[in-house]
Formats: sequence, structure tokens, C-alpha cells
Amino acid sequence: MSTLVTYLVEDNLALIGLASPPVNALGQPLRAAILEACDRAASDPAVSAIILHGENGLFCAGADISEFGLAASFAEPSLPDLLVRLTQIDKPLIACIDRFALGGGLELALACGYRISATGSRLGLPEINLGLLPGAGGTQRLPRLIGAEPALEMMMSGQPVSASHALDLGLLDRLIGEGDGLLEGARRFARELIHEGAPARPAERHSNPAAALPEDFFTRYRATHEPRWKNRLAPRLVLAAVESACVLPLNAGLQREVALFKEAEASSQSQALRHVFFAEREAGKVAGVSASTALRPVANVAVIGAGTMGGGIAMNFANVGIPVTLLELKPDALERGLGQIRNSYEISLQRGKLTQAELDKRMALLTGTLDYADIAECDLVIEAVFESLPIKQQVFRTLDEVCKPGAILASNTSTLDVDQIAAVTRRPHDVIGLHFFSPANVMRLLEVVRGKLTAPEVLATVLKLGKTIGKIPVVSGVCFGFIGNRMLEPYSREAHRMVLEGATPAQIDQVLTDLGLAMGVMAMHDLAGIDVSFLVRESRREAIAHDPSYCRVADELNALGRFGQKTKRGAYIYEGRERKEDFEVIALAERIAGELHIPRRPITTQEIHDRCLFMLINEGVQLLDEGIAERSGDIDLVWINGYGFPAWLGGPLHYAEQIGLDVVLDGIRHYRKALGEYGEMWFHPAPLLERLVAAGKTRIERL
Ligand code: 3HC
Ligand code: NAI
Repeated sequence: MSTLVTYLVEDNLALIGLASPPVNALGQPLRAAILEACDRAASDPAVSAIILHGENGLFCAGADISEFGLAASFAEPSLPDLLVRLTQIDKPLIACIDRFALGGGLELALACGYRISATGSRLGLPEINLGLLPGAGGTQRLPRLIGAEPALEMMMSGQPVSASHALDLGLLDRLIGEGDGLLEGARRFARELIHEGAPARPAERHSNPAAALPEDFFTRYRATHEPRWKNRLAPRLVLAAVESACVLPLNAGLQREVALFKEAEASSQSQALRHVFFAEREAGKVAGVSASTALRPVANVAVIGAGTMGGGIAMNFANVGIPVTLLELKPDALERGLGQIRNSYEISLQRGKLTQAELDKRMALLTGTLDYADIAECDLVIEAVFESLPIKQQVFRTLDEVCKPGAILASNTSTLDVDQIAAVTRRPHDVIGLHFFSPANVMRLLEVVRGKLTAPEVLATVLKLGKTIGKIPVVSGVCFGFIGNRMLEPYSREAHRMVLEGATPAQIDQVLTDLGLAMGVMAMHDLAGIDVSFLVRESRREAIAHDPSYCRVADELNALGRFGQKTKRGAYIYEGRERKEDFEVIALAERIAGELHIPRRPITTQEIHDRCLFMLINEGVQLLDEGIAERSGDIDLVWINGYGFPAWLGGPLHYAEQIGLDVVLDGIRHYRKALGEYGEMWFHPAPLLERLVAAGKTRIERL
């Protein structure tokens, strides 16, 4: 018997324990072991019922994602075949769900006649997040168990439900309260079933899942939701599979599901999303930090500056029960900051996302002060004052004076040199950058900027804390703009330059949103503030002064006080929530182009795509070469979670791998020539890109 499962017969019960840490992923060896154990129990006359449970305190996280795209994915016994076999056993099978049953793990439970769970467990079909659909019977068995509509909702959202909700849905037969012993509960349940002479499988509650649906349900569902799916394949395939469950008998539906699953598995979108899944897990593995690196306790936090960012940052901690002290310069600024936080929570309350009790609890965790003495005992201080090196350095001098030894001192700077900030303290090893993105309580990206002297335990502590507050922490070295904003520069530069050459802002943004970006680059600057990006350019004028066209349109918009959405005018005009093309901006571009002798011409979709994207990719490759980013997946995570790059393209560097590194390099070389003096100025292929192509590599890695 394999070591991947345990097998025990107690009286007339067979207990089969999945024992493949860390998450009992259903790779081929585990599938084979489950089959062997179940067949043994099925053929043992002494066994009247079978309990499937997890040995290591958790049930199952689904198919083994690392097998997808490989022969192992459907190697015998394939998951669908294994689960069909389980449904044929003529003894009650009870899935005993601890912690989670996800994806194929839930499908395994659905193949059992009965399901029992601990109260804290979560059950779900998250395949859509990997560009997949449930492919081992989930799309056919779940609608027959709980009805087509709730089943579709679970698959489309990809969000797991709580065990108590699963009980309400009819997904579970029984819930075992905390401390009551789940496995013991399963034994009791099994004995009851045997005693009652319960069938191996109870009759399907929704044998015709379509019965309760209006006739035009799927047509209307598609019409309502399709616009939000953009280019994504998986939601369309999920819908097709559930539709099949409503019109086909089970066996035909299962066959159709496998065909749809294989289509999804082979798609570039699923490949990209699987890359993102593993990149998220890799990002936590950082050179110099290991599982044994000591962590500092963080029981309370202080935030300096209660402006746009400070308020949002503070909310992250209050949301998970960590008390926060907000420090401001003046009482009115403090009051405004705390008022904005309350306001934000009240909006959540009105939307039903928060209860009054939760709101009160969170507000009670937030305290304001004007006095540094009140933050002396804080474990972590995050500075979010104006973006000015002298001001930030002054704050850090004060922090160095007042904070207790061992306190972590962090800056939310978006562009400044963290080492120069650390250098004004006597404890540079305690200083780190924590670059939150706006709105800080919503955006999942947290760029963790590792200074030259940052201590490994400081880094390890904030990486863990970042996860506690629900962020995706990605480590960056120190450089202008870190990973994200540094890559934003060439991307924005090309967009603005093409406006001078003849494209309109709307045309540029359309190409980017058609690709799947949440927002075009021109609209993004309007949202973030044209005045803000102007100040960033001002801080590095010497690096861009040789190009008189560099973001000239934005500079002039800034001079005109057209700061973007907040002034209702930027690259666009804003009427309410509507964004409109502005002919004055086009006239402005014509005038500047005339002054700079830039010929205007029609710009194609291809050119917009290639110049914006290839320059973005090129900068990312350069960052990897410089060691600012540890791996290409980190760069992808930054752009997906901080800048709205579509996850189903896997991030800019994964996208480059899919386009072909040689194609990207040829494109850069092409524009270097085609754009004359301007091309010579900016279109320098990253040396690493050239080396990768010369070596025939198809993946972006250090070389
Ligand atoms: N396959 C392979 N490896 C998996 C995995 C899976 N399904 N789920 C988790 N892992 C690995 C992770 O890569 C990680 O490995 P590492 O330690 O080497 O980096 C390790 O297990 C622990 O994972 P996490 O760091 O994510 O641990 P957490 O405790 O934070 O989270 C979890 C646990 C909630 C189970 C989370 O890992 C998760 O969401 N897993 C994926 C669940 C999922 O998407 N399942 C569906 C798979 S597709 C499917 O089943 C298709 C089917 O329909 C045919
Ligand atoms: P903001 O202007 O909204 O808030 C700054 C706050 O700091 C103000 O309330 C001000 O009164 C307070 N302040 C200034 N000096 C202070 C001092 N010495 N002591 C205590 N409080 C002081 O600015 P915002 O947008 O919140 O930016 C703060 C920091 O976050 C900057 O470094 C910025 O670069 C960074 N950042 C901003 C992002 C954004 O989108 N706004 C995104 C990511 C980072």
C-alpha cells in the first residue's frame, strides 16, 4: 500500500486518509493510491461504509496544478475516471472535510454519497482563477446536488463558501462543531447510515437541474455577464459546461466537461494564470530569508500622515484587529484623516459589506495623535507624509529618537531612495520601504523595498504581516520607482510621444483596454493626478532633459491646471463619470508637434501595442538583470496587482514569453531605426533580452 494514503479498518468502517502534504493535491500517485484503497475497501466484505479524510488536518486542495499541461495531468487513473469509479462503489462513501475542499478536492467529495465537515472549513471550485473549469465532474454533479443557479455562482465566482453556507446550500449533510472531533463525527454518521440501511448514494435532489430555471436563463445570463468577461475564455467554458448539465444525461455531460476542460487546460490563458499562481507562492521566497529567520512581533502599528495613503494603510491593520495610531501635524488634518476612514467604512456598511458592530470595532482600533511620544512603543511605524526627501528624512530622525529599539521603521515612498532615508537614522537595518498602492485598503500589491542594510528579520516580518493584511508582498531593490513605477516611465513616455505623432489619448487607451488592461495609461494618469506625475518627472529632469518631447503633453496639461479627474480635465474631459475625448488636447498635441518638428501621421493599433508594451517589457527585463527584482514572476505580480495588467496574460514578462522574446527584440530594434533620432534615443534593447535571444531561450531568467 502506498504511503500517500493511510488505510484502517475499524469494526465495519474503512478509514482512508489522504497523506500527501502539504495540501493533498491529487497528482497521479495520490490518485492511484486512493483508487487502490477504495477498491480494497469496496471488495472487503467486512467493510460496510468508507470514510475518506485528510491525514494532515486538511482534506484536499484539488488537482495537482503542477501537472497541468503535462501528460501526468490525465495519466491513469485520471481524476474524472477515479471519481466515476468511486460513484460505482455500492457502499456509502463519506467525505470528511477538514479545513478545505477545493476544486478537485470538492469534486472528490461530490463523488462520495455523503459529506460531513468541520465548521471552520471552506468549500469551493476556484478553477476559474486558473483559467479552468471544474473538470472532474464538478460542473455536472454540483448542479444536480444544489441546483444549477447556485452551482453556477460558485464556479463563476471561484470563491469558496463557509461550511455553514455549504450546509444551507445542501452541499453538506452534516456539520461538526469546533472541538467535537470531526473524524469521530464521521464515524458516528457512518454508523447511523449503516444502521438505517442508507443507500450508497442518496437520490439526486436536482436530477433535472434545469427544471427550476426560467427558459431563457442562459441567454440572459450570457447577455448580462459577457461584457465583464472581456477576452477571458474560462467563464464562457464554465457556462457551457453548466448548460450541458441542464440538457444532457450525466454520462454525456461528464464527457462534454472533460472536452471543455482540456480546451481550457491547453489555453494560453490558463497557462498564464497557473504561472501567476506559482509566482505568488514564489514571491515569498526571498534570498537571505528562510523559515528559521526570526520574526519580530507586531502587535501595534503607527502611521505618520493621515492623508490619502496614510488613512488607507491604517485601515488594513484595523481590518485584521491590529490597533493603529495615526500621527499628524495639525488637529484638522488628523480629524479629516479619521473622518475619511469613517466615511470609507460607512460606504461599506451601506453596501452591506460591513456590519455596524464591525465598523465600531475597527474605528475603536484607530487612535489619533499629534505627539510622537504616543508612538514610542509601537512595533511598526509606517511613514506616509509628503513625497519629499528632506521632509521624510526629518520624520525618520524623529522616529530614531523616540521609537523603542527593535521597532520597524517603514516608508511608503513611491520613488525616493530608501537607503538615503535609512541613512539619517542610527538603525538603518530596521528601515524598509512599504510601498502601498492607492486605494491602499483595496489594492493587493505591496512592494517591499529592501534597503542595502535592511535586516533579514525585518524583511521576513513584513512579508508575513503583508499576508496577514491580505496583500501580495513583492520584494524590490532600491532604484528610482522600484519595480512598478520604473516600468511605468517608458510605457507612459511612449504613450505621450504617440499623442504628439498623431494618436489620440482615447485611441491609445483603447488598444490597452482591448488587450485587457483595467485602464489605459492616459486615463490612469488622469486618475492618479497629472500634477503628481509632473512632480515625479521634476525630480529627475536631468535624466530626461535630452528629450524635449518627453511627456510634453502632460507637462503642458499640468501648467494649464488640468490635473485629471480631480479637476474634471486632463487628457480627457470628465462629465460626471463619463470620460470624453477633448479636441483641445489634440490641438495642443498638434501645436507641440509643430514646434518640435515631429511629423504627424496615422498611428496603427499594432504600433501602439508594440511601442507601449515592448518598452514596458524591456524595462522589466532590465530590472531583472540589475537584480532589482529577484525573478520575472515578481515583476508580473507587480503589474497585475498594482497596475491592472490582465492576469490571464500572466503579467508583462510572461506575455513577452508568449509573444516570443525574439519578436519583442526585433520590434525594439525596428523602432530604433524607424523612429530616427527619437528611436536612437530610447529604443535600447535590454542587454539581458539580447543575451536571452542569442542563447535561444524562450523564458525570461537571469543569464
Ligand atoms: N496543486 C499543487 N500544489 C498546490 C496546490 C495544488 N492544487 N495547492 C497548493 N499547492 C502548493 C503551493 O504551491 C505551495 O507550495 P510551496 O510550499 O512549494 O510553495 C503549498 O502547496 C502551500 O500552498 P499555499 O502557500 O498557497 O498555502 P496556504 O495555506 O496559504 O493556502 C490553499 C492553501 C488555500 C489550499 C491554497 O494553496 C490554494 O488556494 N490552492 C489552490 C486551490 C485550487 O485552486 N484548487 C483547484 C485546482 S484545479 C483543479 O482542481 C482542477 C480540477 O477541477 C480537475
Ligand atoms: P497626502 O498629501 O494625501 O497626505 C500626506 C499627509 O501627510 C497629509 O495629511 C499631511 O498633513 C501629512 N504630513 C505631512 N508632513 C507631515 C509630518 N512631518 N508629520 C506628520 N504628518 C505629515 O499624500 P499621499 O498621497 O497620501 O502620499 C503620501 C505618501 O505616499 C507619499 O510619499 C507618496 O509618494 C506615497 N504614495 C502615494 C500614492 C498615491 O497614489 N497617492 C501611491 C503610493 C505611494
